[in-house]
Amino acid sequence: MTAVGWGKVILLGEHAVVYGYPALAAALDRGVTIDAVGTPAGGPLRIDIPAWDLRVSASARDEEHPVARALAAIADELGIGRPAVTLLGDAQIEHSAGLGSSAAMAVAITRALLAWSKRAQDVKTVLAAASASEAVMHGKASGIDATLATHGGIGVYRKTAGLRPIQARVRVLVGPSGTPRSTAAMVDRVAQATLSGRTKLTNAPTTNNDERLVELGNLTDTGTTALLRGDLLGLGTTMNRAQEVLSGLGVSTPQLDSLCEAARATGAYGSKLTGAGGGGAVIAIAPRDRESAILAEWKHAGVSGFVSTVGS
Ligand code: MEV
Repeated sequence: MTAVGWGKVILLGEHAVVYGYPALAAALDRGVTIDAVGTPAGGPLRIDIPAWDLRVSASARDEEHPVARALAAIADELGIGRPAVTLLGDAQIEHSAGLGSSAAMAVAITRALLAWSKRAQDVKTVLAAASASEAVMHGKASGIDATLATHGGIGVYRKTAGLRPIQARVRVLVGPSGTPRSTAAMVDRVAQATLSGRTKLTNAPTTNNDERLVELGNLTDTGTTALLRGDLLGLGTTMNRAQEVLSGLGVSTPQLDSLCEAARATGAYGSKLTGAGGGGAVIAIAPRDRESAILAEWKHAGVSGFVSTVGS
């Protein structure tokens, strides 16, 4: 059985979601796939994803590698020890691009290992193991990436309540900037900007009444209502404002700003960074007849974008 974990885009609410505010997010129509096969010659539990040039094992040899530690965290959460299994993977999204690649990988690994050990694909178990992996990879994750990678679909996510699915479908233009980013570094940056330098966060919801985070949460509500009405211009307007707020928090970059600007100048309803920022990807919502012109503008700027239909 080939196991899948979905990539994701956050349409509204990244960073604010770390502090308990709502975020509107959707699974992409692509992600990471993994097949678990027994290693006949024996040896440690290992993973091989040629698309990412990734080949590590959950053994002392690779213990410095974050993916090796994430793999060990998943195996520990599942209580399976270190079986002689090779996880053969493929990826349809780039890693470190703000598209939830690490959570997609963790979910695919977990599902593949559950299938290999003939255990039920219980959603709670998958989420717990993927969250253990995300804690290793990103430290203070809100859980939004792991939840979308597991459930798919589209909805409003809150750290305390999880994902509330909504009935909506929308075409999203996705532009991976090619500049890798660190989620943990960007989450720290927002903590510094909003908590007067207090960067020690825990996984419990941290109260943070910074007005920019409050506004990001409100924009999620306004944008979700617009999407549910089919008002893409209204959704785009909230995305543009969210980009301004995220920029003010220090998580955008000149490259991301200029990709968003190019999309708007070419007719997008709205455009913003998606995910942690500091690199990673931008997204845009646009009239259908402007999509290829926007992708061409991004291409001109060195970015190979794509259109993903998200939602249900
Ligand atoms: C990362 O995809 C989104 C952030 O809000 C971090 C998180 O929610 O874990 C930046």
